[in-house]
Amino acid sequence: MARITYLIVALVATRPASAAAARRDTTCDAAPATYTSISDPGLPDPWKFASGKSVASADDFACRQAEMSRIMQQFELGDLPPAPDLVTATMSGTSMSLSIKVGSNTKTVSVSITKPSTAGASGGPAIIAVGGASIPIPSGMGRIAFGNDACAAQQNPSSHGTGWFFDLHGKTHSAGATLAWAWCVGRIIDGLEQLGPAKTGIDTKKLGVTGCSRNGKGAFMVGAFEKRIALTIPQESGSGGAASWRISDSEFAKGKSIQTAHQIVRENAWFSPRFTEFVNKTNTLPEDHHFLPALVAPRGLFVIENDIDWLGPVSTTVAMKAGRMIYDALGVKGNMGFSLVGGHSHCSFPSATSADLTSFINRFLVGTGQTNDVEVSKANITMDDWIKGWSAAPKISLA
Ligand SMILES: *[C@@H]1O[C@H](CO)[C@@H](O)[C@H](O)[C@H]1NC(C)=O
Ligand SMILES: *[C@@H]1O[C@H](CO)[C@@H](O)[C@H](O)[C@H]1NC(C)=O
Repeated sequence: MARITYLIVALVATRPASAAAARRDTTCDAAPATYTSISDPGLPDPWKFASGKSVASADDFACRQAEMSRIMQQFELGDLPPAPDLVTATMSGTSMSLSIKVGSNTKTVSVSITKPSTAGASGGPAIIAVGGASIPIPSGMGRIAFGNDACAAQQNPSSHGTGWFFDLHGKTHSAGATLAWAWCVGRIIDGLEQLGPAKTGIDTKKLGVTGCSRNGKGAFMVGAFEKRIALTIPQESGSGGAASWRISDSEFAKGKSIQTAHQIVRENAWFSPRFTEFVNKTNTLPEDHHFLPALVAPRGLFVIENDIDWLGPVSTTVAMKAGRMIYDALGVKGNMGFSLVGGHSHCSFPSATSADLTSFINRFLVGTGQTNDVEVSKANITMDDWIKGWSAAPKISLA
């Protein structure tokens, strides 16, 4: 039974991003029932399975992605539930109504949609805003307002268990709010697929997701755990998003006023209750947040950060540079950009980043042009301190 469940997880996690990938029939080695903690001051090696086996091919990487997903769920995020038993969607004006059934529980949720003005027969692109958007969304692009607080509340640590995700799955479900949001966004996409572009105006192959700060942590999780997202744009997500738990702890030890794992679980319900036992020993996690870009890969990813100490500019720069190294080894370096311009207030979008953002939106949502090669940060980092334990990167082409 465990074996069967695992295969389903692997198939979902490896939903193809290209026709070549679609033809691959990936089978992975049997997964352990649970993963064990480790002791590693550096970022865990993305190119080695927990079993010690190396990642040498595209199929291996798909299996390693499925493993990274399970590890993150086990240690920090809680379990991502499978698709619900039933989703029924209806559209009325600019409102999509979803009736979602899990076991004997049913919830009705409504989602506000601004249709793209440029939709052809297959519909146009749209950006899902997690709790709102603070990037310039091109005029004419569709917008989907995801009310993430209603899905899983984020008031304080006791918010865990509140929201329609928990009404469906039970108040004691292990998921933290950020992973719950990824599941809820999946239901919105189910509804869009069911209704089709004639009713929604939206092409579900051209969906982006964004959000800033706490909702940027959420946008990153949505992109990592919902493979139908074509472009992920987390903005100023900091610790719990683009930052590494280990490096944020290291910066904290140097006296920086920075959000850390031990602070974050006291502030809010973003992570699973499972995470609490690891917050003072992040070196023991067999994962860190460079796994997020690894899970988004090879899909589009444009990470925007800021130089505010609390967000951890050194931490985000190292973790996302590690992410770009992963994209590079997969032959798709241009599919990920990292931009930390700094010198502006939290969640205000710097105009210096406009052209780079536009190149990602055009490439992945509009379907035109090439991405700019974006790796912008003035943070003073020593990359090797964090990745010296990595195996040599394999040469894989997911392009
Ligand atoms: C982590 O360490 C801090 C400071 O030593 C302590 O106050 C806190 O209770 C610890 N948290 C957990 C979950 O052990
Ligand atoms: C960068 O960091 C290194 C060591 O951490 C330090 O020696 C150096 O002075 C720093 N450079 C700047 C410009 O801050």
